[in-house]
Amino acid sequence: MAEPFVHLSVLGEESPEALVIRPDGLYVDGTFGRGGHSRRILAKLAPEGRLIAFDRDPEAVRAAAEIDDARFRIVHAPFSTMAEELARLGVAAGEVDGVFLDIGVSSPQIDDASRGFSFRFEGPLDMRMDTTTGVTAAEWLNTTDEKTIRRVIDLYGEERFAGPIARAIVARRAEKPFATTGDLADLVASVVPRNKKDMGQHPATRTFQAIRIEVNRELEELRTALNAAGRLLAPAGRLAVISFHSLEDRIVKRFFDRAAHPERDLDPRLPIPVSKLPKPAFVDVERIRPSEAECAANPRARSAILRAGTRTAEPWTNIEV
Ligand SMILES: C[S@@+](CC[C@H](N)C(=O)[O-])C[C@H]1O[C@@H](n2cnc3c(N)ncnc32)[C@H](O)[C@@H]1O
Repeated sequence: MAEPFVHLSVLGEESPEALVIRPDGLYVDGTFGRGGHSRRILAKLAPEGRLIAFDRDPEAVRAAAEIDDARFRIVHAPFSTMAEELARLGVAAGEVDGVFLDIGVSSPQIDDASRGFSFRFEGPLDMRMDTTTGVTAAEWLNTTDEKTIRRVIDLYGEERFAGPIARAIVARRAEKPFATTGDLADLVASVVPRNKKDMGQHPATRTFQAIRIEVNRELEELRTALNAAGRLLAPAGRLAVISFHSLEDRIVKRFFDRAAHPERDLDPRLPIPVSKLPKPAFVDVERIRPSEAECAANPRARSAILRAGTRTAEPWTNIEV
């Protein structure tokens, strides 16, 4: 029944390959979605192996009930809290063999009009991955000051017209508060000229992305989870992360760069003997892209980048990214 989602999982072959180092190990899938990757990870595990999956979306957690496998369990929580949640399950720092993250929104989330993620479908302007908590996109737009709205659209949407869009949002909500995806999509389309180079792209694409990132605190989630994974992984354990846009990939890349080359953060003028140089916390860092064939079959794969690395035995110190 879940078979179609297995096919849609981006880098579905490469990710479990990059993650599973020992079939009897303990693994974490921080982004269950519809379980495409989780199922493939389970397929690589021995009877003694274990997989603990997370998702903050109650729909995803409901879908996980379909997996009838004693080696598997699902936790409804943001992946930034994986260390605390695992501690509750009796798993301590240094005891995990692999952590996997496939960040962003899932196709079922985007395609469900009632979730408000897409300007293509009319629906309530919600955009929360976890519908049980937090502020909706409409509430955020109706209550946030213009300067902050502008900064979010500029930073997370990399949108040139952030200023005029923020101004128009504040003017429009004074007349009528935002309620639906159409309210926002139409307003942005009235301010942003069509991209001549890409007429297929809706002018609200970048604004929707920015507000989604803000409402779900996606980049903070990622930064916290990467450090939690660094602390949880056993020596030789693997961290594998798929990202879909440059903001996320920049964070993942910088995280691995700094963990693999801590000496680069030192002041080069300091006379430090080689034996005293800090040692890498991750090695064998690799970057994997989907094949041509996968991109042809699944256009969503085109922007995906998988970065993976192997944890060393060095004690973990927090990495700012
Ligand atoms: C791209 S989908 C994952 C698809 C999944 N790998 C599969 O094969 O079906 C991302 C999923 O991660 C969840 N997610 C995103 N950010 C999260 C976070 N900070 N904590 C927990 N779950 C998160 C989303 O709710 C969504 O279900």
